[in-house]
Amino acid sequence: MDTFELAALTGPALTGFASIDSRQDLMRPVFRNTEGDAGYWMFTDYAAILEGLQHPELWSSSVIVPTDPDPPYQWIPVMVDPPQHAKWRQVLAEYFSPGRVKGLRDEHRRLAAELIDRISAEGSCEFVKQVARVFPSHIFLNIMGMPIERLDEFLEWEDKMLHQSGLGDEAMAIRLEGMTQVVGYFQSLIDQRRADPSPDAHDIVSAALRWTIDGEPVSDGDLLNCLLLLFMAGLDTVASQLSYAMLHLATHDEDRARIVAEPELIPRAIEEMLRVYPIVQTARKATQDMEFHGCPVKAGDMASFPLAAAGRDETVFPRAREVDLDRGVARHISFGAGPHRCLGSHLARQEMTVFLEEWHARIPAYRVTETPVEHAGQVFGLDSLQLSWGN
Ligand code: HEM
Repeated sequence: MDTFELAALTGPALTGFASIDSRQDLMRPVFRNTEGDAGYWMFTDYAAILEGLQHPELWSSSVIVPTDPDPPYQWIPVMVDPPQHAKWRQVLAEYFSPGRVKGLRDEHRRLAAELIDRISAEGSCEFVKQVARVFPSHIFLNIMGMPIERLDEFLEWEDKMLHQSGLGDEAMAIRLEGMTQVVGYFQSLIDQRRADPSPDAHDIVSAALRWTIDGEPVSDGDLLNCLLLLFMAGLDTVASQLSYAMLHLATHDEDRARIVAEPELIPRAIEEMLRVYPIVQTARKATQDMEFHGCPVKAGDMASFPLAAAGRDETVFPRAREVDLDRGVARHISFGAGPHRCLGSHLARQEMTVFLEEWHARIPAYRVTETPVEHAGQVFGLDSLQLSWGN
């Protein structure tokens, strides 16, 4: 194991290690995790995870947190099943299309360059706070039409919603508090934009006021649930993925030297790092009694589909834990699969590509100087990554 290969990414038994029925279960492609009130199935091989995500008629995404089988919230569109789900995708698609994202490429490059220029003379940085949480957030807030000046507050709310370790009422209360703050903020933003509309504005919040589904205006409740999901996806994911990418490159000199010498390898390196360090761990609820990949499932059972396990399945990807820049096309599912496959994947890939290009053009050699701190849960990420490139 690499010095900096961290606990949450070392295997499929993410948060429930202590509660797994027996060590023997770890050898099986599926086991019962007894975490939470009711427990849940945990599928650990690529084929079962892929199939589960591709079949919403068997596995509903009305619940995507395995320990919350009856959540008091609905994140739209990820917690909406077909056929309603496709209508939401249609509404949202234009903002994240390859063409729309490509049109933002120069702006993304400029933002990355400015940020890196600001810190490069310092010789070191705490990458997560100073860079990873700043760069994608600026891009996302511009797309949404939200004020950059409030970023610290937004990140605080994000942490409450997504980075609560632990179970039970206390953690849930903090999560709900974060959601309430975000929803309250969006409600006042919507009211403001309604009172003072700017018909030429292209940001998502302004445009959302004109959204319709089945010819009817979208209700405020649905709108807020959708903006809430975009908020969670936009502020956290790229920051986490980029932090893992930099941790990998800082601790694997050969890979780093190759992308410095051949920057055209960066998109391929990103795919490999997405496969080996998948940040999103999702879940579904069974719609019926069935035998699924040999597992006796009852209607209403929860199942975790950890993408971290899918990307590291040795039967699909030989030497699965190794980032191999010569691997060729690896069909990873770190952006999910099936109807809910990530809507922001083009945006995420572009942000990471321009960032790594600009960083390595300026800071080709750097190292980790303190043990990084990682969080697990629904979305893995780093809390800190101290990098140094000075003497
Ligand atoms: C590297 C960064 C990212 C990763 C690894 C990632 C991963 C994922 C995954 C795995 C899913 C599917 C979840 C499930 O099936 O339960 C998903 C869905 C989604 N992602 Fe991303 N995501 C990233 C960045 C983004 C960004 C930047 C946005 C834009 C704001 C975004 C927006 C969404 C949306 C809206 C969905 C729900 C799609 C649907 O239900 O149809 N993601 N993402």
